[in-house]
Amino acid sequence: MIDQATIQKIFDAADIYEVVSDFVSLKKRGVNYVGCCPFHNEKTGSFTVSPSKGIYKCFGCGKGGNAVNFIMEHEQMSYVEALRYLAARYNITIEEKELSEEEKKEKSERESMLIVTNFAEEFFVDQLLHTDEGKSVGLGYLHKRGLDAQTIEKFGLGYCPEKWDGLTQAALAKGYKKEYLVKTGLTIESEKGLFDRFRARVIFPIRDIAGKIIAFGGRIMTNDKKSAKYLNSPESEIYHKSRTLYGIYFAKKSIVQHNRCYLVEGYLDVISFHKKGIENTVASSGTSLTVEQIRLIRRLTPNVTIIYDGDAAGIKASLRGIDLVLEEGLNVRVLLLPDGEDPDSFSQSRTPQELSEYITNHETDFISFKTKLLLDQAGNDPIEKARLITEIVRSISLIPDSITRSVYVRETATLMQVEETVLYNEIARIRTGKNADAAHQHIVRHQQTHPVQSQEKTPPVYSTEKLCETEESVLIRYLLLFGNQELYEEKRDNGTYSVSVGEYIIEELGEDELEMFNPGFCEIQKEYRAHYKTPGFIPAKFFIGHTDPAISSIAADILSEPYELSKMWTEKESSVVKEERLFSELLPKIVDNYKMRRVEIMTRQADNKILELQNSGNGEEILTWIKKKNAINRIRARLNEKLGRTGVK
Ligand code: CTP
Ligand code: MN
Repeated sequence: MIDQATIQKIFDAADIYEVVSDFVSLKKRGVNYVGCCPFHNEKTGSFTVSPSKGIYKCFGCGKGGNAVNFIMEHEQMSYVEALRYLAARYNITIEEKELSEEEKKEKSERESMLIVTNFAEEFFVDQLLHTDEGKSVGLGYLHKRGLDAQTIEKFGLGYCPEKWDGLTQAALAKGYKKEYLVKTGLTIESEKGLFDRFRARVIFPIRDIAGKIIAFGGRIMTNDKKSAKYLNSPESEIYHKSRTLYGIYFAKKSIVQHNRCYLVEGYLDVISFHKKGIENTVASSGTSLTVEQIRLIRRLTPNVTIIYDGDAAGIKASLRGIDLVLEEGLNVRVLLLPDGEDPDSFSQSRTPQELSEYITNHETDFISFKTKLLLDQAGNDPIEKARLITEIVRSISLIPDSITRSVYVRETATLMQVEETVLYNEIARIRTGKNADAAHQHIVRHQQTHPVQSQEKTPPVYSTEKLCETEESVLIRYLLLFGNQELYEEKRDNGTYSVSVGEYIIEELGEDELEMFNPGFCEIQKEYRAHYKTPGFIPAKFFIGHTDPAISSIAADILSEPYELSKMWTEKESSVVKEERLFSELLPKIVDNYKMRRVEIMTRQADNKILELQNSGNGEEILTWIKKKNAINRIRARLNEKLGRTGVK
């Protein structure tokens, strides 16, 4: 754990220009620097670095943030990893927070295990490249599988000799402890003594996203059906199979850059794709795809293409994968290879260009995939067709975002020639069933008996949270840019009092207990409220340097927004300076308008809720909501009076 003071030191030292320059060539333009964005492919520079604000922002792909965010994004590091990276770059000694005894033990145990896996990796590589057995058997096999020296080196492929305790003895002789050899599963302890888990296999080291070797997979080189084709390290403190994706370390940059991840099944599938230059490829390797693996991908991209074998098992795995990926809110495409081929075999005889063209031309969205697959089985039978529709709708219903759902509903409606409403009804039925929990039982019961009246009959065009996002981002922008400036003077008991922009916004919203819809903005609002009275509080600096990367990147985003607030109000005014001149006039109107919008939405929500509850006859809850609605009405009345006076509608 890094202590707070050190974190602050790192934030202060990390110069955005220097940090970015390590990776991107920047040219000065005015007060800023521009270059080609490292996060998406571009030929003209839309990537801007502002040393004065301490932020970067790409106007092409939208990525933006402070120096720590940049390293996190570019190097695909966690927050703490990025801090350590920057600390090293600026020679800042990290003051570690005191660890508890328990934490210390856990940490040193993990570290010791990683030291052992690291040694094992070197041992396996050495065996492969520098021993007779390794060269003839191991290397011979890998060459036969079409791998060249460069690829073998990149993936750190190795060989374990046929001897029953080759690795174990070598490790013990070098002073590595038996305890950790056993804990990592490299050594197996039995009554007869110690022996190696991996014998006479080629070795595939498995790395975590940061590149640490956490496990191994070993393939036999014969067609012996009696022993397992692949043998893998067991689960351990450093290796959790369900959270690991083979190849993720080598793929992460490319996944971000192409904004897509190819998901294959096996070690050699990944390696062969990388060899052909398709580096945004990872494998679930030996487990069926898990939710944790999908979330790992989601950190890098929302777009996944599943590339599996075209056999029955591959199809089944694809169907399962589709649903899981959809449920996690990602977009999924599918590519089935011809029966009998896997990505490894399929790529062998093709040039990189042929391979990537094949993928682009043959990947389909999941609806076309399912439809084609199931239509083949259904033929013209209407009952089968109905079943097929239900099956597709079931997948759509898993998608968390309603707008995305509505896009797929439209596609299915066209493809299957059914009414969209029919599909929405079905989705509503499935989703309400799925979301049933104790608190919502009454609604659910109601909707199940009156399915036509269900909430999701028509697709909502915008989600409520998004409704006020523009207004909220404008208010946040004012807080960050002009928070400390005076808005007006007020007579108070002992003289005049200067009301700042920040104070005005915070207290106006506080008066009606309004918290912003957008969770990130809401967090900024709360923190602002907690800090704005502290002397020396500089909002832009505070939030850009915020240690929560979610918040600092919102701040960076807002402060580098290309749109000018004034465009919303006047045609010609466009610079920040003019915006500043306008704010004393505009701000109260913006705040009031925002409140009005909020009141309208809240009224609608309360009305819906009351209607819903009336149908289920829950008296007590209805009363609570009626009270809530009365409170909202009071805000509305107050606003109306005020707006009437100022004449703004
Ligand atoms: N796997 C495993 N244990 C097995 C079989 C398979 O862990 N007994 C994992 C491996 O990660 C393997 C993946 O599942 O790469 C896919 O298995 P499979 O399709 O059978 O192997 P291939 O990757 O095609 O391996 P190869 O080309 O070497 O035959
Ligand atoms: Mn294969």
